[in-house]
Amino acid sequence: MAKRQSVKSEAKSAHHNGTDLKAPKGKLGVMIPGMGAVATTFVAGVEAVRKGLAKPIGSLTQMGTIRLGKRTEGRSPRVKEFVPLAGLDDLVFTGWDIFEDDMYTAAAKAGVLERHLLDQVKPFLGSIKPRTAVFDHNYVKNLDGPNVKKGKNKMDLAEQVRADIREFKKTSGATRLITIWCGSTESFITPTAAHETVKSLEKAMTQNDENIAPSMIYAYASLMEGVPFANGAPNLTVDIPAMHELSRRNQAPICGKDFKTGQTLIKTILAPGFKARMIGLNGWFSTNILGNRDGEVLDDPGSFKTKEESKLSVLEHILQPELYPELYGNFTHKVRINYYPPRGDNKEGWDNIDIFGWLGYPMQIKVDFLCRDSILAAPLVLDLVLFLDLAQRTAELQGIGIQEWLSFYFKSPMTAPGLYPEHDLFIQLMKLKNTLRHLKGEELITHLGLEYYD
Ligand SMILES: NC(=O)c1ccc[n+]([C@@H]2O[C@H](COP(=O)([O-])OP(=O)(O)OC[C@H]3O[C@@H](n4cnc5c(N)ncnc54)[C@H](O)[C@@H]3O)[C@@H](O)[C@H]2O)c1
Repeated sequence: MAKRQSVKSEAKSAHHNGTDLKAPKGKLGVMIPGMGAVATTFVAGVEAVRKGLAKPIGSLTQMGTIRLGKRTEGRSPRVKEFVPLAGLDDLVFTGWDIFEDDMYTAAAKAGVLERHLLDQVKPFLGSIKPRTAVFDHNYVKNLDGPNVKKGKNKMDLAEQVRADIREFKKTSGATRLITIWCGSTESFITPTAAHETVKSLEKAMTQNDENIAPSMIYAYASLMEGVPFANGAPNLTVDIPAMHELSRRNQAPICGKDFKTGQTLIKTILAPGFKARMIGLNGWFSTNILGNRDGEVLDDPGSFKTKEESKLSVLEHILQPELYPELYGNFTHKVRINYYPPRGDNKEGWDNIDIFGWLGYPMQIKVDFLCRDSILAAPLVLDLVLFLDLAQRTAELQGIGIQEWLSFYFKSPMTAPGLYPEHDLFIQLMKLKNTLRHLKGEELITHLGLEYYD
């Protein structure tokens, strides 16, 4: 099934005329389960940019350009001028959280943005109050909060979220909606029979099956309302067959998992470089200290396991040990996260990389990245919101379910069943930009370039 779809779209690319891309009309409602550090940094940032107080650095949709045609043509429009994306002024926001803090208070507590900046967007942020959350302490052991929905079963909770969605659409006047999960990392689970089909999922929700995580309830509610869903955390959430089915059926695109920021971003920049030069790898030890609430949640082994799986898969896929056994057949990869409160959101990530070159001579690289987690994540949230909205307005993308072209933003990109994910940041970027070119009927860029020497 998936194979047939991809063949169809490849054939189309040759004579696609880009006419199905419609300009957006009206407001775009952004709904965020989890109004913590990432969500508040994103929303405060959008408002600061709208007010001309700061620039949307790190956002491909706002800052990026896309080359079209030959290098000699000099055509490189901004991404946001090339495809019809919603403007920042069109965005309206809501969210859910287990704590009652409005977005100004939550942002102040998260401690990412300076008080001086926050105070300039205070009325706006203060006006966004969290709706009551769907929460299960078993899925996030290190948190508990008062702002939680009660219901007779998980289906009942989903109905309440659906009611929230409809209410927000009505009161905000939004013409389209997007949901993006910025909630805590949930405990590790693997797909079960309950996750197989929409029918089994619904039955499991009605029976209060323990395998249905809160994030799945938001996702189910969104997709049932025809609302696209992006997953910024490593939880399973929409990466199960039942959600793929629902996404396609209701033409509500999905993508995930786990925003690619910080250490993994650097890993997916460096590893393709080693492979490109056929430099071998003996080991990669990654350790982090962070002190925000995310760090506190990840201090629980269940949540850490979910994150660890997401962080570990990257190198295997990029380096392809099965193709290069002498270079990558036997490397050790360790990832550690330590909760260390004094650091707050300003994480420090160390990498010790043991590589080897010509004749097997060993070398080392040390990376010490003093990063700001939410500063790296916020522009990704913005791009995902705008691109998912584009996907839903685009005939060729709206019914395909998983938006693999958005892999660029994720540590564990979702793919069609049986397909391995692309982790190399540069392949991901090419995939994203070629998708935009394809949608607009522009020639795909292969970087062949022989034509310049005819
Ligand atoms: N910042 C990054 O660089 C980055 C990168 C990749 C992934 N992530 C993921 O993004 C998510 C958010 O990160 P953060 O730093 O903002 O964390 P955070 O702890 O500051 O915010 C998460 C919020 O989600 C709320 N929450 C938890 N369960 C909920 C539920 N069921 N319903 C509604 N709200 C719920 C918590 O109360 C909290 O306010 C985490 O899962 C994190 O692992 C962050």
